[in-house]
Amino acid sequence: MSVKAFRVEKGEAGFSRSIVSREESELPAGELLIEVKFSSLNFKDGLSATGNPGVTRNFPHTPGIDAAGVVLESSHGDFVVGDEVIAIGFDLGMGTSGGYAERIRIPANWAVKCPSGLTLHSSMIIGTAGFTAAECVQKLEQSGMTPASGPVLVTGATGGVGSVAVKLLAQLGYEVTAVTGKAEKTDWLKSLGASNVISREEAAAGADKPMLAETWGGVVDTVGGDILFNGVKSLRYGCSLAACGLVAAPTFGASVLPFILRHVNLLGIDSVQLPIDQKAAIWQRLATDWHMDLSDLEEVLTLDTLSGAIDRILAGQMVGRGVLHL
Ligand SMILES: NC(=O)c1ccc[n+]([C@@H]2O[C@H](COP(=O)([O-])OP(=O)(O)OC[C@H]3O[C@@H](n4cnc5c(N)ncnc54)[C@H](OP(=O)(O)O)[C@@H]3O)[C@@H](O)[C@H]2O)c1
Repeated sequence: MSVKAFRVEKGEAGFSRSIVSREESELPAGELLIEVKFSSLNFKDGLSATGNPGVTRNFPHTPGIDAAGVVLESSHGDFVVGDEVIAIGFDLGMGTSGGYAERIRIPANWAVKCPSGLTLHSSMIIGTAGFTAAECVQKLEQSGMTPASGPVLVTGATGGVGSVAVKLLAQLGYEVTAVTGKAEKTDWLKSLGASNVISREEAAAGADKPMLAETWGGVVDTVGGDILFNGVKSLRYGCSLAACGLVAAPTFGASVLPFILRHVNLLGIDSVQLPIDQKAAIWQRLATDWHMDLSDLEEVLTLDTLSGAIDRILAGQMVGRGVLHL
């Protein structure tokens, strides 16, 4: 049986992308064979597709850290043929052939059953990016954030993580300030629920100062660098910043001052290795009390349009969530 797949190859001239037909028998071992119906585009997929060794080392490779589809074969007692499942993170699309193909084969403990309240399609509008936004909000709330804590800053706001974070926070009653480099998307961000929109330059101003005015009741940071630590320096007393991304920079200049003067917290967020029971619990929330209508965030992608979207996400130009329809 041959399946259509997006493939990245390493050649003398660099990395190339194409759509190929490959044999199902070439897929890695695993307890579940899944017919992929939808996948999605995340920043990390762009890194994988361009040979970033921190994400993917062995080529040829099929990226796609997200997949939603139907179980075709199962050798694990928790899943039967016909189950609708979601798989994000772990090694999918990194070292293991990923969701940019009509089929994947994965270990059963990488998959959760699609909860009622979500569809395979809506789960991939969320995808890793939206899931990570929810993880940030959950950890901030576990650390004490409530709408009474003060306005919440979301950086990289038109991106995948940022746009879902804006939508979810606004739906939960938070006042949201969105940081964007795309001033022309101000009205779009307001339509998602942002009360206020500021520029990246404004968010990065004052990086040389030891402390900034107490402003935020919480921060969801997707960019790293000066913007991240400015966020920490402008948290209100006892509040927290959730750090999940590095599109601006993986490093930042820091001092202990905000931690010892304002009792603030810097929270780490990882969606990749998060244990499957915790992943399932967050999917359940996204299907119930945190259910969102995210249709206005979707850009429909096909295998044919994926390569152009990969270039756009690496250039910081994607808006919302690219969803691959297979
Ligand atoms: N920790 C985890 O488990 C996890 C999970 C998912 C994602 N991530 C990380 O989170 C980050 C965002 O992922 P994503 O999928 O949402 O990516 P994305 O869709 O590309 O969004 C990133 C956004 O950041 C802004 N941006 C781009 N370049 C920038 C720069 N140089 N300085 C400041 N802002 C910049 C842009 O938004 P504006 O134009 O609106 O500013 C861009 O749309 C990535 O670093 C990704 O690797 C981590």
